[in-house]
Amino acid sequence: MKSSKPSRNILLGITGGIAAYKCPDLVRRLREQGAQVHVVMTRGAREFITEQTLQAVSGLPVRSELWDHAAEAAMGHIELARWADEILIAPATADFIAQLAHGLAGDLLSTLCLATQAPVSIAPAMNQAMWAHPATQANVELLKRRGVRVLGPAAGEQACGDVGLGRMLEPLELAGYMLPVQRTDLLAGVKALVTAGPTRERIDPVRFITNRSSGKMGFAVAEALYAAGAEVVLVSGPVHLMTPAGIERMNVESAADMLAAVQSRIGDAQILVATAAVSDYCAANVASRKIKKSAASLSLELARTPDILATISANEKRPFLVGFAAETDDVERNALVKLAGKRLDMIAANKVGDGLAFDKDDNALTVYWNGGRQELCLCSKRDLAGQLVQLIAERYRATQSASA
Ligand code: C5P
Repeated sequence: MKSSKPSRNILLGITGGIAAYKCPDLVRRLREQGAQVHVVMTRGAREFITEQTLQAVSGLPVRSELWDHAAEAAMGHIELARWADEILIAPATADFIAQLAHGLAGDLLSTLCLATQAPVSIAPAMNQAMWAHPATQANVELLKRRGVRVLGPAAGEQACGDVGLGRMLEPLELAGYMLPVQRTDLLAGVKALVTAGPTRERIDPVRFITNRSSGKMGFAVAEALYAAGAEVVLVSGPVHLMTPAGIERMNVESAADMLAAVQSRIGDAQILVATAAVSDYCAANVASRKIKKSAASLSLELARTPDILATISANEKRPFLVGFAAETDDVERNALVKLAGKRLDMIAANKVGDGLAFDKDDNALTVYWNGGRQELCLCSKRDLAGQLVQLIAERYRATQSASA
């Protein structure tokens, strides 16, 4: 599990490309936004620009070697990986992109990228033929699937004389992508907990039970709550998504882990939004060794997992509870049964199956509460989350004033 406080610490990784000469300006632009910038350079980067320049503009010591004992004693590489709220690699060379895609950790920067839980963005910069090469394109695709944000490259004239795609985006544009989220005070001072993604229930050391949830809806809800001014803790099952800026993320695996994480933080939360597709069953006994195939059929005994929402709902002091109901049929009836059965304040229902909702970027919801309902029409999960959070804030404020 990883916790991070909401602040703006940007780790700027510079790799060995000619576009590195633009990095002092990039550091300046990022600092204008109020970010603290820690620069880490590869050996290649030092061929193009000096540490002294970057130290002067960032105001922080520049790191480049993993085996620098003095620097490690001041802030070790794992500490540095934890310090970062976001990592930006600019310029990102074809070689560094390949290292990142394949999980190599041969120097300080690549090690940090493996060790961090912070979202990583890369600004590729290279010769157009290197960018177009299938190996580079495959690496970039792999990184995108893993949640790395790829900024650029732009097209135009290159330092080598070629013309084409491969120029690093300009510092001002890159800094624009790193801008902090514009927040309102709709839920200022409110602490919210969000569960997201699937859970993974172990069967034996190599197998598990899971489901098709991507976590996209839950991450979008966490982001929208944060944009509405709330302090957000996101408890996530195994997903390939970047942690939205400003949000504290706790990574969990099973339903039992998720319940423990929620219980550890529910005490001071005023709102719980449970978007997670929690597995309903887990193996009654987890085998310590790989189960061998032998008989023609195999029965697996399953046991119920804890119901996280119902457990929290049974507490004497309950936060405002929002559940999700993903149903293949009878959506409204099933949602209303859950609203009453789990004593929820709101439930957001949607139809799943036939290619709907799961792992898609858009969705539609019908939201129910005691005495009311509202349709939220098909749109991107991000927009939908924004509308849902508006409704949550209205209903939450209404229950607050009713109980005052
Ligand atoms: O009962 P059902 O799984 O359909 O209820 C869905 C809602 O309950 C969702 O909000 C889901 O996150 C939550 N839930 C939970 N713990 C479980 C099962 C579901 O918190 N074990």
